[in-house]
Order: sequence, then structure tokens, then C-alpha cells
Amino acid sequence: MYRAILSAVALLGLGFMPISAQAKAPFALKSVSVELPSSDKSFPPGPGSEAINNNCLACHSADMVFNQPPMSKAGWTAEVAKMINVFKAPIAKQDVDPIVGYLVQLKPAK
Ligand code: HEC
Repeated sequence: MYRAILSAVALLGLGFMPISAQAKAPFALKSVSVELPSSDKSFPPGPGSEAINNNCLACHSADMVFNQPPMSKAGWTAEVAKMINVFKAPIAKQDVDPIVGYLVQLKPAK
């Protein structure tokens, strides 16, 4: 009983705290500016560049492709298939050929 009265008094006490004490924020919000790594690089224009720019920049930048060694057509075909089958890239069937063609002319195996 005594405890109940005590906590009731404590609760009331909170309600009567001066407004100024309640409004005082324990921390201050500040604006910060953050520099993110640039990932806005796209593929240079050329046959198939529209298909590759529309389909291959959703998850990573074009650097992911620029940093690869040159590959044969079979290699690039397998790479695009990997994006679709393993990473679930939503790429329409009719875009696959133009994309592979673009990759082959961009980084052909010698
Ligand atoms: C659904 C997301 C997604 C899309 C869309 C996507 N990729 Fe990827 N890609 C990934 C992931 C995840 C990796 C692996 C990243 C890592 O290993 O750090 C990757 C890696 C790569 C690599 C590096 C080699 C490798 O196999 O890991 C290449 C090249 C590549 N992607 C090309 C493409 C091309 C070309 C397209 C368009 C046909 C494409 N990606 C679209 C998710 C995607």
C-alpha cells in the first residue's frame, strides 16, 4: 500500500515537472554531408548500350564489368546467365542478346 502511494506520487511528480525541463533534448540533431562512393558510372553509348544500361546497373555499377578480364562470347553469355540465374537479375529474354553483344565488343577475348 505504502509502495503504491509512493509510485503514484512519483508519477504525479513527473507530470508536474516544469515544461522547460521536459523540453530540453538530451541530444542535438545536426546535418551531415556524406560522400558516397560514386556508382553512377554507366556504359558508353554503342549498339546494345541501352539494354545493358537499363538492365545491368540496378545492383552494381558498370565498374563491375570494366574490372573484368576480356572474355569470349561464351564467357560473357555465361556471365549474363549467372546474373539472371544466381543473382535473380530481372532481365527480359529479348535484352540478353544485345547485352551479350555489347559485352563482347567492349571486352573481347583476344
Ligand atoms: C539482381 C542484381 C544484379 C543485376 C541486375 C546484375 N548483377 Fe552483376 N552482380 C551481382 C552480384 C550480387 C555480383 C557479385 C558481387 C560480388 O561478388 O561482390 C555481381 C557481379 C558481376 C560481375 C563480376 C563477376 C562476377 O561474376 O562476380 C560482372 C561482370 C557482372 N556482375 C555483370 C553484370 C551484367 C553484365 C549485368 C546485366 C546483364 C548484371 N551484372 C546485372 C548482381 C547483379
